[in-house]
Amino acid sequence: MKTLLLSLLCLFVWSQSSEALTDQQVVLGQNVTLACEYRLKGVIWFVMKLPARPEMILRTFGSEKKTEYYDEKFREKYSEGDRSRLVINNVSVDNLGIYYCIKPGFALQISDGIRLHTTEV
Ligand SMILES: *[C@@H]1O[C@H](CO)[C@@H](O)[C@H](O)[C@H]1NC(C)=O
Ligand SMILES: *[C@@H]1O[C@H](CO)[C@@H](O)[C@H](O)[C@H]1NC(C)=O
Repeated sequence: MKTLLLSLLCLFVWSQSSEALTDQQVVLGQNVTLACEYRLKGVIWFVMKLPARPEMILRTFGSEKKTEYYDEKFREKYSEGDRSRLVINNVSVDNLGIYYCIKPGFALQISDGIRLHTTEV
């Protein structure tokens, strides 16, 4: 099931045009908040760092105490903000990538991507 979901995500993302991206500039070392275009209580966040496969980060349920992580290693780095926003703690070069949120359900809907970049190198 997880593999199927990932395959669908790959297909989706690769067929997407670059117009479906918004850019967000970040300052390394700061906490960054990403807003999901679906203002829902429950969404799923994932990140793409090409050419690697997408990485599922967390699922929200509208309560920070309930946030579900797909990998425990993300617990320190990511947390749930208000209205399903994704908060990245102490953003580093490793965290740069394109972030998407998913509206869960039978007809999965995937948001436009938010591409993080920094002016530093
Ligand atoms: C980032 O968030 C952490 C945890 O919430 C907090 O301790 C820290 O002071 C914040 N850092 C900045 C630069 O705002
Ligand atoms: C932030 O991350 C950098 C490297 O990614 C690390 O060296 C630094 O100690 C971190 N700062 C905090 C406050 O966690």
